[in-house]
Amino acid sequence: MSPLLSVEDLVIEFDTARGRRRVVDRVSFDLAPGEVLGILGESGSGKTMTTMAVLGLVAGEPGVMGGSITLRDGDDEIGLLSDLEQVISRKGKRVSKNCRKWRRMVHARMRPLWGRMMTAVFQNPRHSLDPLMTVGAQVEESIALALPDLTAAQRGEKAVDWLDRVQMNEPGRVHGSYPHELSGGMCQRAMIAVALARRPKLLIADEPTTGLDTTVRAEIVELFRALLEEERRSMMYISHDIREVLYLADRVIVMKGGRVVETETAENLRLGRGQRADYTAMLLSAADLPSGAAA
Ligand SMILES: Nc1ncnc2c1ncn2[C@@H]1O[C@H](COP(=O)(O)OP(=O)(O)OP(=O)(O)O)[C@@H](O)[C@H]1O
Ligand SMILES: [Mg+2]
Repeated sequence: MSPLLSVEDLVIEFDTARGRRRVVDRVSFDLAPGEVLGILGESGSGKTMTTMAVLGLVAGEPGVMGGSITLRDGDDEIGLLSDLEQVISRKGKRVSKNCRKWRRMVHARMRPLWGRMMTAVFQNPRHSLDPLMTVGAQVEESIALALPDLTAAQRGEKAVDWLDRVQMNEPGRVHGSYPHELSGGMCQRAMIAVALARRPKLLIADEPTTGLDTTVRAEIVELFRALLEEERRSMMYISHDIREVLYLADRVIVMKGGRVVETETAENLRLGRGQRADYTAMLLSAADLPSGAAA
């Protein structure tokens, strides 16, 4: 089966006070339909920027400077970066980009894809939820996107059903609550319901447990696991916690300094099978996991 998402030679650069810095350096990976791809790597290794490029949300200039990102929806192939060369000009060694034009192009291309094709869950769920809308209304907005023909009553029922599926106690009460009335863990469950109710082909979860208490973190990880068992979903899951990633992912890419240093199945990593890149071996042994043979 062809991949749902293919990223090839992705390059992201930012202009800083000390000149242009490449923060994602020719990153390539595929994601099969129904596959969970974990991304591991130290802080600043480019995990978030890689997924932001897929979402069309890289902020900062010049941002995406090369590569291709292809999404497949049935027989449709959408090249998210297919117009990139049009906005890049080269004068000798100087490479510049028309960032304003690019932002407009990305927005036009991505708008129909956000929500339906892909959506994301980030850390700090309280900031991702709208503080002025009840949780139920936010889940209902997502449902309306996925199932526009439902009546208001049907949407309301489905929203309570989603809140139940993310294992919220008293889903009926939570439906009428505002985000500030919920704990951090409950907000993250609500955010997951908002994301999944859109029925996205691709879900991106970027450190969804960071900032939560240890026990709540474990509950959220178990919730993802249960939701994946209920229904296979294409997902990218980022965490600093290697155990979390190995528990949820089918395959893992390990990033360091903007590059992919290893791509391996989660099973081989868990069992210490095969050869390991030095950096991966270090991450594994720091977590008391078998680090396998050095590459
Ligand atoms: N707008 C920007 N301008 C300049 N540098 C940026 C900008 N956005 C991100 N960066 C830099 O890009 C690099 C990669 O950032 P990214 O957020 O992808 O890291 P990460 O792997 O997600 O790290 P963390 O684990 O801390 O979330 C970092 O060094 C970051 O400081
Ligand atoms: Mg990050």
